[in-house]
Amino acid sequence: MATPDLLIVGSGLFGLTIAERAATQHGAKVTIIDRRDHIGGNAYSERDPETGIEIHKYGAHLFHTSNERVWEYVNRFTTFTDYVHKVYTTHDGVVYPMPINLGTINQFFSAAYTPDEARAVIAEQAGELAGQDPENLNDKGISLIGRPLYEAFIKNYTGKQWQTDPKDLPASIISRLPVRYTYDNRYFNDTYEGLPTDGYTAWLEKMADHENIEVQLSTDYFDESQPLNKAAVRGRIPVVYTGPVDRYFDYAHGDLKWRTIDLETERLDSTGDFQGTSVMNYADAEVPFTRIIEPRHFHPERDYPGDRTIIQREFSRFAERDDEPYYPVNSTEDRETLLAYRAMADAEPRTIFGGRLGTYQYLDMHMAIGAALSVADNKLADLLAS
Ligand code: FDA
Repeated sequence: MATPDLLIVGSGLFGLTIAERAATQHGAKVTIIDRRDHIGGNAYSERDPETGIEIHKYGAHLFHTSNERVWEYVNRFTTFTDYVHKVYTTHDGVVYPMPINLGTINQFFSAAYTPDEARAVIAEQAGELAGQDPENLNDKGISLIGRPLYEAFIKNYTGKQWQTDPKDLPASIISRLPVRYTYDNRYFNDTYEGLPTDGYTAWLEKMADHENIEVQLSTDYFDESQPLNKAAVRGRIPVVYTGPVDRYFDYAHGDLKWRTIDLETERLDSTGDFQGTSVMNYADAEVPFTRIIEPRHFHPERDYPGDRTIIQREFSRFAERDDEPYYPVNSTEDRETLLAYRAMADAEPRTIFGGRLGTYQYLDMHMAIGAALSVADNKLADLLAS
């Protein structure tokens, strides 16, 4: 096997973007390795073999961006549907629109408040803890939107996400809780949104579809039985590493903490429409899952079977070392640990750390692509010449 000009560890959107830029702009021969048996990282999706419904294997992925450059770039590989994301939540047996908006408020208080009246009501309720510095997430939530709305829609949902009573969570987890004083319940505020017309995997495969790009799946960078492993490659060829930064350095400064989710997927033969929408949150403590996703609603334009559907119940928990790391916990301790790893990464020969795992940050897809385009602009030529 010929030695590539650039090795990319991880075929997620960060790695794919760098690979595509290196091959197209620099004519570099690129090998991408991924320890999973498929391309695309967490954005990967697959069709359910029985119903044909597209399932987002690692949780619901909705594309949205206001970044013109990213939008132009992704449209080179796929078109997007006109799907507009909306979320609802079930609380105490009633369904409300999210994020909290005038519709939610009027339904919850059985009122017909105008925007100004609703603002005044929420301001008065949020004043309950006026003059106090919120010491925990619970107090912070009350001081932002008042106790009634906080306790109905935020408290138990957040408690389930963190498996922790919000009274024991730091106030810093939330800086604001958006409340809209209109009836607009579009989930994202971005200029562009939609879902890839032919699915995520077709998009992701198109990015890697270049004669200079080779993809090797089921190949772990730390597996010394495969030729392109860290011990063999380090310092010898340029590398873009998008796996977990703490793993790269053998956890020398300890583990960075993550939350993960478990998805319980069920195929229903009894109905063609379980909940009438793609995402239903469950705000109450008695329901153990945080939300139910019904993927058929991501593509109303497709000819899916009318008598069957698929649902995914989503459970949130802290990740162990062998779990998929999804959301950085980002505690004060984690941030200190990250600084120590960053110093090590800066000293690493011919290796760039990128993507959500390599930088320990939550990145939406457009952010991962945008960050990769910046790295391609500013660092790739030097890396390839190194
Ligand atoms: P990603 O994690 O995708 O890719 C990293 C790759 O590296 C993986 O394929 C992994 O297998 C591989 N790897 C790791 N270690 C390796 C090793 N040792 N050897 C070889 N390969 C290795 N974004 C958005 O815009 N809208 C949304 O709705 C959502 N929804 C969402 C839900 C959930 C549950 C999560 C966790 C995330 C989202 N996202 C999202 C974020 C989105 O998934 C994210 O932006 C991209 O995955 C980032 O791509 P990366 O390439 O950085 O990482």
